[in-house]
Amino acid sequence: MSGAAVTLLPSGRQFVVADGETVLDAALRAGIALPYQCRSGECGNCRSQCVAGQLEHRPGSTPTALTADDITGGARLLCCATASGTVTLECREVDGIAGIPLRRATARVTAIERAADDIAVLSLELPDGQALEYRAGQYLEVILRDRSRRSYSMATAAVTGGTRRLELHVRHRPGGTFTDHVFGKLKVREMLRIEGPFGTFCLDDRSDKPILLLATGTGFAPVQAILEEAWQQNLQRPITLYWGGRTPADLYRDADCRRWAAERPGLRYVPVLSGDAPDNWDGRRGRVQQAVLDDHPDLTGHEVYACGSSAMIDAARSTLCSERGLPTSAFFADAFIASA
Ligand SMILES: Cc1cc2nc3c(=O)[nH]c(=O)nc-3n(C[C@H](O)[C@H](O)[C@H](O)COP(=O)(O)OP(=O)(O)OC[C@H]3O[C@@H](n4cnc5c(N)ncnc54)[C@H](O)[C@@H]3O)c2cc1C
Ligand code: FES
Repeated sequence: MSGAAVTLLPSGRQFVVADGETVLDAALRAGIALPYQCRSGECGNCRSQCVAGQLEHRPGSTPTALTADDITGGARLLCCATASGTVTLECREVDGIAGIPLRRATARVTAIERAADDIAVLSLELPDGQALEYRAGQYLEVILRDRSRRSYSMATAAVTGGTRRLELHVRHRPGGTFTDHVFGKLKVREMLRIEGPFGTFCLDDRSDKPILLLATGTGFAPVQAILEEAWQQNLQRPITLYWGGRTPADLYRDADCRRWAAERPGLRYVPVLSGDAPDNWDGRRGRVQQAVLDDHPDLTGHEVYACGSSAMIDAARSTLCSERGLPTSAFFADAFIASA
C-alpha cells in the first residue's frame, strides 16, 4: 500500500496519509479537524502522542515546540510529521471546523484606518459569490508577490453562509515586508490575494465553563471576533476580557471594550498596561497574565483563550496551569509568531 493508515484515539476515526504529505494536511484533506495554528512547528498546538507505528518529523522541518525528551517519549508535531505503515495516534478533534471549505480569492481593500501609529485596521471585500466561511478565531493568509505568506486573524465574526467583508488588524513591524507595505504604500482599492480559513483557535462549543480571553496587542483581533460570535449565538457563558499593552495607544479599541462591558451583563473588561500608564489610568498595571493570577485563586473550572505574543502565551500557560490548577486541555492559544 502507498501511504499510511492512521487511526485516531479516542475517536477511532481513520484517514490515509499520502507519501510525503504531513499527517496534519492529510487529516484536514479528509475533513478531520485536528488542532493546529502555525503549521511551522513553533506553536505546539498540533502536538500528538504516537502510541503505535512509525511517525517521523520530516527532514528539514523544525519542530521547535518539542524538546528532545518529548520526542523520545513519542510526542510528534503533526504539521511536521509524515507517517508510514499503520499508525495509531492520541489526538483530540476540534468541533465546528470540519467541513468549512478552504478558499483562495482576491480581496479589494475598501478602507485603511490608523487605529494607532503602528496599528492599521484593514477592511477587505471579496468578489460576489466568494463569501468566506470561518469560525471566529481563525486566520487567513495574504499571499505576497514572491508567494510567501503572512497570517492575519479575522477580527469580525462571519455571518451565516459566509461573509464578503473582512476586517484585519495589522501591527507595523518596521523592516517587515508586508507591514512596511501596509504602512507605506497600500492604498484603498488595491487587491490582495488571500487564502483561508486556517487554524483551530475557536470557542469549544461543548463547554459551559466561564471564559477568560487574554490578548496582547493585535491579539485583540481574533478576540473581538470571538466576542461577536458569542453575542450572535447568545452564548450565556460569563466572559472576562484581559487586554494588555505597554501604553494606552496599544489598547486601540479600549473605548469600545469599555462600552461593551457597560452594555452587556455577561462581559467584564480588564485593561492592563505594562509600560507608561498616565497618572489618571483606571485600569490595571503589570503583565496581563499577572492580572488573571491576581483575580483568580482557582481556575480549575475555567477555559482560557490567549492570543498575541509567544512570551505572554508561554508565561500564561505555565503560571495559570501550575499555580491555579487550570487543566492544560482548557488552555487554547494563538501565538502571533513570524509567519515568513
Ligand atoms: C496564526 C497567526 C496569526 C497572526 N495574526 C496576526 C494579526 O492578526 N495581526 C498582526 O499584526 N500579526 C499577525 N500575525 C503575524 C503576521 O503574520 C506577520 O508575521 C507580521 O505581520 C510581520 O509580517 P511582515 O511581512 O511585516 O514581516 P516579515 O518580513 O515576515 O519579518 C520581518 C522581521 O520581523 C520578524 N517578525 C515578523 N513577525 C514577527 C512576530 N509576530 N513576532 C516576532 N518577530 C516577528 C521576522 O522574524 C523578521 O526578522 C499572525 C501570525 C500567525 C502565525
Ligand atoms: S506546531 Fe504544528 S501547527 Fe504549530
